[in-house]
Amino acid sequence: MSKNYKITLLPGDGIGPEIMKVAVAVLQAIAPKFDLTFAFETALIGGAAIDATGHPLPDETLQSCKNSDAVLLAAVGGDKWDSMPSHLRPEQALLGLRGGMELFANLRPAQILPQLIDASTLKREVVEGVDILVVRELTGGIYFGKPKGIVADENGVRRGFNTMVYTEPEIDRIAKVGFEAAQKRRGSVVSVDKSNVLDVSQLWRERVTAISSDYPDVKLSHMYVDNATMQIIRNPKQFDVILTSNLFGDILSDAAAMLTGSIGMLPSASLGVAGAPGVFEPVHGSAPDIAGKDLANPLAQVLSAAMMLRYAFNEGAAADAIESAVNKVLDSGKRTGDIMADGCEKLGCIAMGEALLAAI
Ligand code: IPM
Ligand code: MG
Repeated sequence: MSKNYKITLLPGDGIGPEIMKVAVAVLQAIAPKFDLTFAFETALIGGAAIDATGHPLPDETLQSCKNSDAVLLAAVGGDKWDSMPSHLRPEQALLGLRGGMELFANLRPAQILPQLIDASTLKREVVEGVDILVVRELTGGIYFGKPKGIVADENGVRRGFNTMVYTEPEIDRIAKVGFEAAQKRRGSVVSVDKSNVLDVSQLWRERVTAISSDYPDVKLSHMYVDNATMQIIRNPKQFDVILTSNLFGDILSDAAAMLTGSIGMLPSASLGVAGAPGVFEPVHGSAPDIAGKDLANPLAQVLSAAMMLRYAFNEGAAADAIESAVNKVLDSGKRTGDIMADGCEKLGCIAMGEALLAAI
């Protein structure tokens, strides 16, 4: 009997709908080969949801996501909604989804593909072989901490503030995700904090160290975030798993992504408690400047679908099949504009999708 999975699709804004179309076609092509069936439900998010309902994350969308086996998200945002009040901006949909689905663990791999080494701005010898997994805490820290706000004192002088806060259980559960990921990789975790200055980071370091005693096979070290930023650019091959908080992970994952030279290639997973649905999405944004022009690179979206098969459904063979189709297409010299190199063949988003289907 074939296995059936219910997937909520959130195409969102900008290039989102174009790249989502490619990922869905790839999933549909893979399904019969592995005796899988997918039931897709498309829901509104981001600017598209604001236009249709006045809210970036309508209740029906959150409900649909919670009731599915996994969520495939493309991207949200665009100039059109940049002047909205902050609680109604498209980006709020991401925070609402993360908070509402309790997606506390964000996995952001930055792996350099041999075919694309020359797309990196760093020297070949620095980036060749880079394979980093950033494990970012996603539902706590300064993104969600209270109190927060902008208030005026009696003289009308305004003060803006946020609170960086972590409880012990919040640190413990993300630390476990980091150590377990390292066990399946090269067995090393670098925990990144700012414990030379911040109290919240002192607790972070203390708890991560305590949890590490349950993982004697994993080597733990600690780095301050400023040094870690420098080390990612100086010698990225020293890293296996980088375990860090919400804000530091936001920043470090962009730096790690750029080692590969092509943010258009990177997938990510946001996971909650065991058994709850996760959200899978490309690391890149909605790229409004190229939206609707058939110029987008759909590969990060397609690789996010592969990550969904692997992490959410435990369908490793189906995930491998998608990843090897991506490799085959790159090996044959086919490229979208963002990863174009001398001697390669330049394709649009639709043609790249067709090339993937042919490779499956
Ligand atoms: C990311 C983004 C988001 C974040 C924004 C768009 C809210 O930068 O997913 O890294 O800061 O988490
Ligand atoms: Mg970011």
